[in-house]
Amino acid sequence: MRDRNFLAENNAKPIWHPMAHPAEMRAQPPRIVMKGEGVHVTDIDGKTVIDAVGGLWNVNLGYSCDPIKQAIADQLSALPYYSGFRGTSSGPSIELAYELTEWFKPEGMVRAFFTSGGSDSVETALRLARQYWKIKGQADRTKFLALKKGYHGTHFGGASVNGNANFRRNYEPMLPGVFHIPAPSTYRNPFNETDPAKLAQLCAAAMEEEIAFQGADTIAAFIMEPVLGAGGVIVPPDSFMKLAREICDRHGILMIADEVVTGFGRTGAWSGSRLWGVKPDMMTMAKAITSGYFPLGATLIGEQVTEAFEADATTFGSIGHGYTYSGHPVGCAAGIAALAETRRLKLDENAAARGKDLAQALAALKAKHPLVGDVRGKGLMAALELVADRDSKKPADKKTMAKVADAAYEAGVMLRVSGNNLILSPPLILTSLDVKAIAEGIDAGLSAAG
Ligand SMILES: Cc1ncc(COP(=O)(O)O)c(C=O)c1O
Repeated sequence: MRDRNFLAENNAKPIWHPMAHPAEMRAQPPRIVMKGEGVHVTDIDGKTVIDAVGGLWNVNLGYSCDPIKQAIADQLSALPYYSGFRGTSSGPSIELAYELTEWFKPEGMVRAFFTSGGSDSVETALRLARQYWKIKGQADRTKFLALKKGYHGTHFGGASVNGNANFRRNYEPMLPGVFHIPAPSTYRNPFNETDPAKLAQLCAAAMEEEIAFQGADTIAAFIMEPVLGAGGVIVPPDSFMKLAREICDRHGILMIADEVVTGFGRTGAWSGSRLWGVKPDMMTMAKAITSGYFPLGATLIGEQVTEAFEADATTFGSIGHGYTYSGHPVGCAAGIAALAETRRLKLDENAAARGKDLAQALAALKAKHPLVGDVRGKGLMAALELVADRDSKKPADKKTMAKVADAAYEAGVMLRVSGNNLILSPPLILTSLDVKAIAEGIDAGLSAAG
């Protein structure tokens, strides 16, 4: 690699960053991250901070997981690539599909379709849902229902079911036939309802109403994140996902659980669906499937959808969808190693335990800093929503958010700003001491801006 000066000089110049304005990036070049070790990353100036972002919700095993590195190196030597399209399989893809269907058997998943990441996995699920209804002779079922504030990636299908205008507006028109219902957020909802159980009922009623308006026999699937991530870590009331499942069942609508963030232990359970006691019809996975060491995703398919495809005697059951890197042998080898480590270290249990520590620390920060309007989280996914004023809930401005994040970085903690939320999704190998360090860094950030 070229030297430090070259990198610093060209930072944000030949490269456009996702989810950022290119001019803003040039004016305020992003941090250049050079190294990672354990739960820490080191920047180009040699400053080491604790990574409270976990890469991007994905580096669950931290940066020093030798078994994944070794599995990647071994697979690169044996077979760096082969196609997973009709006619050929690679060994690692067979093994990882087996592991995934074993792991998510309690959710009823029996098949895996590999992709290159989360957006691909969502796209795959949406397409398979439409195809399922064609196989079943109900070709009118083409529409999708989703939650406002939901995030489902950036392909046109995923962006269409996305519930945040920031990710849609510049790319409209989106896919027709997609409808959104209110997010079950106790902090901000159109009903001004703060009681979780009542809010769940209200959102479920809104879902029923939309289904009645559209006609149940026109709806292919409902998609939701079990805990909404990018929308600001919105933890639905305990009863919501179950209620949504019941509604889907009553109207014959497929349920897709977008587990791209919540899969593999982040919430303290192996999946968000398991957390809420729900069996979806499909699950989308990515991110921690390789702990971020290789781009890979998977759409897991439940029994009902599998049976329809596999029993189909027409051409409708043939899957006209896939990616060059579906079942990439190196990615799948990384996945096998990552999942084995994730299970061996019982990262679900650690996420639940450290999540409790983190929730306690964040509650103390809320008590101390008026800038914090709300604190939310489940396991090791959490958000602090910053407000200019607690009564009006007016969101904190961009400058304040940057000030908090910069001061926290100076104090040794990498945070992610999303709108007026500070998002936390640290590696799941976190210790109690790491939690303390994160809280101290945020405290320093809030003090600097408050
Ligand atoms: C819930 C959810 N679905 C889908 C995606 C898209 O994944 P990717 O960025 O790997 O395409 C994300 C990314 O953050 C996500 O959080």
